[in-house]
Formats: sequence, C-alpha cells, structure tokens
Amino acid sequence: MDDRNVGYAQGIGSSDIGAFADNLAESLDRQMKIAFEPEERKSLRRFSSTEVASLLRVSTSNLRNRHKDGSFPEVHTDNRGHRIYTAQEIDKLRDILGRTGKNAESYRPGRREGDRLQVISVVNFKGGSSKTTATIHLAQRYALRGYRVLVLDLDPQASLTTFFGFRPELEFAEGGTIYDALRYEEQVPLSAVIQKTYFHKLDMVPAGLMLSEYETETANALARRVQPIFAERLALALEEVEANYDIVLIDCPPQLGYLTMAAVCASTSLLMTIIPERVDLASASQFLTMASGVLEVLYSNGGIGSYDNFAYLLTRFDTAISTQQDLAEWIRELLGDSVIKTPFVKSSAVSEAGLSQKTIFEVDLAGTKNRKTYDRALESVISFSDDIEKMIQSAWGRGGVNET
Ligand SMILES: Nc1ncnc2c1ncn2[C@@H]1O[C@H](COP(=O)(O)OP(=O)(O)OP(=O)(O)O)[C@@H](O)[C@H]1O
Ligand SMILES: [Mg+2]
Repeated sequence: MDDRNVGYAQGIGSSDIGAFADNLAESLDRQMKIAFEPEERKSLRRFSSTEVASLLRVSTSNLRNRHKDGSFPEVHTDNRGHRIYTAQEIDKLRDILGRTGKNAESYRPGRREGDRLQVISVVNFKGGSSKTTATIHLAQRYALRGYRVLVLDLDPQASLTTFFGFRPELEFAEGGTIYDALRYEEQVPLSAVIQKTYFHKLDMVPAGLMLSEYETETANALARRVQPIFAERLALALEEVEANYDIVLIDCPPQLGYLTMAAVCASTSLLMTIIPERVDLASASQFLTMASGVLEVLYSNGGIGSYDNFAYLLTRFDTAISTQQDLAEWIRELLGDSVIKTPFVKSSAVSEAGLSQKTIFEVDLAGTKNRKTYDRALESVISFSDDIEKMIQSAWGRGGVNET
C-alpha cells in the first residue's frame, strides 16, 4: 500500500511544507491586494466635521464659522455637501489655531523644550489580552490628535505590522525589521528600518519572524559579554530618532523574554493590559514578579527602571458579565489610580474591524451594521486614549490639553 494515501500528514516532506508556505504567502498577498484596491496599499479616510471638531477640541459651530470668515481654508465636500477633511488638513487647522486661537499653546499638544520623549510599552504575558489592538488604537488616536508618533512592533508574530497593510512574510523576509536595529552583528540604525505609513504623523518599525532568533542570540551575546547588552540596545537605538517624535508605543510579545525586557528598559512608562478574569490576573501578577526581579538586577547595574507611569488598562471588558465587573472593582481597589479610568470594552466592532486589519477609526461607517455597537466601542477607545494622554501630558508637567 502506498503510505502517501494514508492519513493527512503522512509522506509530506519539508519541500511540500515549503511549497505550502509559499502558496499561502502568495494567496495572502493576493487577498491583501484585493482588500486594498485600487491603491493596493491602505489609505487613510477623510474625517467629518464632527470628528474634526472633537479632535481639535473646538465646537462644530466654531469650525463652521472659521471656514465662513476665511481663516480656515476650504476642504472637499462629500456627496451630501458636508465638509470632509484629510488628516493633513486637520493638522493645518491645528496649526492655524496654534497661531491664532484662544489659548493658542494648548493646540500644540506635543513635546516642548525639555520634555522627554514618551516611550510606552504595552505588556503582558498573556496572549490575546489586547496588547496589539490597544497599541494600534492609541497610536492612531495620538497621530490624529497631532502628536508625532512612532510605533514599534516587537512581536515576531508581527500582527501590528499587518495593521499597516504590510505583509511581513513577503516584505521583510530578508530584513528591514526592528531585529536589524537590535542585532549583535551588522546592526543598522533605527532610521534605516522606520517605515512612513499611510497614516499621517504615524511611522512604524515592522517585526518579522527573524525576531524570534533574538532570544538565543541574546543569550549567546550575554555569555560572550558583548556590549551594549540587550537592556540598553533599544534605548540606544531610539536615541538616534528621539527628536523626530513625541510618543513611541511598543507592542510587546506575550512573554517576558529579552525582547520584552529590552522594551521595558527603554520605556518611560509601562501599560499593562489586563482582562478582568482570574487567569489573567494570575499571569499579570507572575509577569510583575518576574519583571521586578529582572529590573532589580538591571537597576543595581545602571539607572534603568524609573518610570513616569506604570498603568493598567482593563481590556476586553464585558460589562454584561458580573464576575468581570466584580474583578474590575477589586483590581481598582488593589491598584488604585494606576488603573486607567476607562476600560477598553469588549466589542464585536473592534474584533470585526480587526479581521480586516482595521481599527475602529478606519472602518467604513456606511457599511457598519450596528451603529450603536460601533459608537459604544469608539467612545471607549477615545476615552481610554484621552485618559492615557493626560498621563503623558502630566509627565511633561502639564495638566491636560485644551480641556474645556
Ligand atoms: N476590545 C476588544 N473587543 C473585542 N475583541 C477584541 C478587543 N481587543 C482585542 N480583541 C480581539 O482579541 C484578539 C486578541 O487581541 P490582540 O491581538 O490585540 O491581543 P494581544 O495581546 O496582542 O495578543 P498576543 O499576545 O498574541 O500578541 C484579536 O482577535 C482582537 O481582534
Ligand atoms: Mg499582540
């Protein structure tokens, strides 16, 4: 009997698996091209005047009047005659307000002289605790709010990278990821792997499978006493570009390996995602115990480990589940103000958008089936982003941005 006909996986050699991988990569590539036609790349939609007013924190009537009196340039209108704005145009208006508005300073939310670059790592052991989803939503929100944002994908799974329309398995198979800026030989400057993106004011550094090699390479480098050690390499890489950004967000892999530790050591603040469930709390506590152990060792060797903020974001929070509500309350009692006020609610609007590598800022509202669900998710994302924005502003010694 021919063995090849028995069962699924018998008689399959490595070349078959290789061919399967190639087919899969090509097919994904085709799918991505179909999804992003006609540009083949993602592009950023235009924003309504209500959205723009809220982003600029002015009233819609103020916005309208400024167009009428000519102090704001005209923009495109949609087929119903409503004004629609590109992200670049929103920035232009912000610029004008920053020169001529009341409290002009407050329209320039970014760093001022002496403010240190905010590097925020999103961490947790637990797979699926919304690290990537929270990171990409925060990054987009802050870019739209007018900050210069850099987002780093530090996870070999590279799911953040795919949110930008990249196909890591094809585009970065030969290099071009954060790995190249961290490696112990043939290291390149960070600027060489930074990608401009379709999203105004948002740059990114991709990840790829090569990153998984970094754990063993780091162990070897430590044994050989190669300098600088992993704990300093990311921070040093960031120094090259620090003047170009206000905020850096780092999406970490679901483990406390050398990559996560490198991020933790390069950060000015840490954001830990926690789903209010028992198993998640156990892994969060485990993560913290291990991280503090490692940090203690590093701290005693050099000034690593002093943070502006260490905050917890409740994620995938299902208010309909009473045990989640109870646990959330308990977490708040335990951790107090370090828990971000607004949780990231669990919502099908978020997971469905995620299926096509979109955030809820990007979904086509016309095609949105359940507007209420969408609005609720959007409100949650905007509010927790604003909570964290206040945290960033307070690290710069300012109490909130153009708050009314
Ligand atoms: N608020 C939310 N509501 C509904 N689904 C969500 C929400 N946040 C994340 N998800 C979904 O949960 C899954 C895991 O999310 P995500 O990839 O962000 O987690 P992660 O912590 O980055 O995972 P990993 O540890 O594998 O990197 C995704 O399918 C995502 O769409
Ligand atoms: Mg992730």
